[in-house]
Amino acid sequence: MEKRPVIALDFSSKEAIKTFLAQFPAEEKLFVKIGMELFYQEGPSIVHELTADGHDVFLDLKLHDIPNTVKKAMKGLAKLGVRMTNVHAAGGVEMMKAAKEGLTEGTAEGKAVPDLIAVTQLTSTSEEQMHRDQLIQVPLKESVVHYAKCAQEAGLDGVVCSALEVEMIHNATSDDFICLTPGIRPKGASVGDQKRIMDPQQARKIGSNYIVVGRPITQSETPYESYLQIKKEWNGEE
Ligand code: C5P
Repeated sequence: MEKRPVIALDFSSKEAIKTFLAQFPAEEKLFVKIGMELFYQEGPSIVHELTADGHDVFLDLKLHDIPNTVKKAMKGLAKLGVRMTNVHAAGGVEMMKAAKEGLTEGTAEGKAVPDLIAVTQLTSTSEEQMHRDQLIQVPLKESVVHYAKCAQEAGLDGVVCSALEVEMIHNATSDDFICLTPGIRPKGASVGDQKRIMDPQQARKIGSNYIVVGRPITQSETPYESYLQIKKEWNGEE
């Protein structure tokens, strides 16, 4: 089946999203990522509107709290009909298990339970910061792999990670353990503030299971064409 890049809808209002999506044909069903900025301003209605139009939603809220609270929050998120959501692996195996339970309990009968993935170390965290702020003394990569293994042990479906980490995470878990990778730029595109980037074709070759692409599509003069081009590269069609 054709794989879709996940479009990061990093806009600050529903109106801006509508204007952006109006540039796509209505029959093109997208997989979009909604983050905290938008969700906290617009609330669940933004998810309802996108799913009502037939789009799949990855709700990127990175939950991290005591297991009971995360479980109940996840139960609510499952009712929104999202396709994927996430937690911080730093919340621990027990919290991640509770998150999965909440999602399962909140999913209506006959519907698929949303994929649940974990954030390992944020890519904004440097190795030095991790040593100093979190008192984790192992190398950053080791911490990332450890968190991925914890997520797998808790029954999660995968992790968000840098494309450069996919191989070691798949080696430590399994090839179908989702590695969803941001930091993707088609050849020749503006890099923006991303530091370690990969193009869609490279991401496919190293085994990324999903790619997240924001600005190369959202800031494009011709978003639909940019989307189709990235989708082609991601599917290895050129
Ligand atoms: O515009 P761009 O393609 O850089 O957007 C990437 C998206 O992925 C943004 O929503 C960003 O917050 C998110 N992200 C990231 N790096 C991470 C985790 C999430 O770029 N490690």
